[in-house]
Amino acid sequence: RQTERESLYIALNYAKTFFQENLLQTDEGRGIGLSYFRERGFSAPTLAAFELGYSPDQWDALLTDATKKGYNPTVLGKAGLTIVREESGKTFDRFRGRVMFPIHNVSGRVIAFGARILKTDPKAPKYLNSPETDVYHKSQVLYGIFQAKQTIRQEDVCYLTEGYTDVISLHQAGIKNVVASSGTSLTIEQIRLISRFTPNVTILYDGDAAGVKAALRGLDMVLEEGLNVSVVMFPDGDDPDSFVRKVGAEAFKAFIKQNAHDFITFKTDNLLKDAGDNPFKRAEVISEIVGSISRIPDPIKRQVFFQTTARQLKVDEQTLISESNRLIRKQR
Ligand code: CTP
Ligand code: MN
Ligand code: MN
Ligand code: MN
Ligand code: MN
Repeated sequence: RQTERESLYIALNYAKTFFQENLLQTDEGRGIGLSYFRERGFSAPTLAAFELGYSPDQWDALLTDATKKGYNPTVLGKAGLTIVREESGKTFDRFRGRVMFPIHNVSGRVIAFGARILKTDPKAPKYLNSPETDVYHKSQVLYGIFQAKQTIRQEDVCYLTEGYTDVISLHQAGIKNVVASSGTSLTIEQIRLISRFTPNVTILYDGDAAGVKAALRGLDMVLEEGLNVSVVMFPDGDDPDSFVRKVGAEAFKAFIKQNAHDFITFKTDNLLKDAGDNPFKRAEVISEIVGSISRIPDPIKRQVFFQTTARQLKVDEQTLISESNRLIRKQR
């Protein structure tokens, strides 16, 4: 029911403020959380723009404060803020002793949290995220969309990164048309969310094997939606956050300009590298690429890609076109 969702929004907004106050106004928050953010170079306006916070390292700090202020414990649970321990039946805070990244929907309401660990505990996950709730459907959300949407429209391109801190660091560097898929592969809902603001997406994934894999995976779906996709890979070991801090905003923008490849060319390059001289593998690459191109709805764009990839693949353009026609007939 609408009113039930509304009560979740209210609880989540309360929690956001609780975490912010803990970050900025308590000794624990300042000593641990704020100094962590400072070390990462986040300024006070940046902390405010993303409403970053800190969850106290106690079992039930939020639960106690919320209950005192009259929030319904059941609602806190439904909002993903507390959990019930199975053995004892006791309720405690989900987020404890972590820096808090509120996740906003497109209209700016807090719907969930990402929470980063500060200690180096190999057993605990680096990020802990809210569970799915009535107001949070992970697959439909892009981190940073609220802070980015106006600039995405103005610049007519959306930069898609992997992580929370990539969005925040780029935003602070003045590059504000940035969102993050939060480490998962892209979904159709996320693509449609971007296409409300621009048809152009540039993927800025981490410069590691996982980043390349992620960039190649799931992107056929983006083509199918008619978006224009480019890919930029960062030097190995860097992500957009570490890279922009290393080189600064101007060099970062120049790097993107020089290293953005359209997705089809990028994918062809990568697959060809893997195939080497093996003719069977090269043949597989050709069908794979024809498959990708065939998903592009615009026939003119398809034509352009047949020309460019025929050169890359060292095959006849007509071969690609007839194979594509065969695929498209088969799909219908
Ligand atoms: N992620 C997650 N759970 C994890 C690890 C990662 O949800 N255990 C998500 C987070 O949204 C994270 C993104 O995947 O931001 C990218 O992961 P990674 O590159 O490892 O983290 P960074 O964003 O670079 O974070 P940091 O710079 O703080 O290490
Ligand atoms: Mn819903
Ligand atoms: Mn990574
Ligand atoms: Mn990082
Ligand atoms: Mn990263």
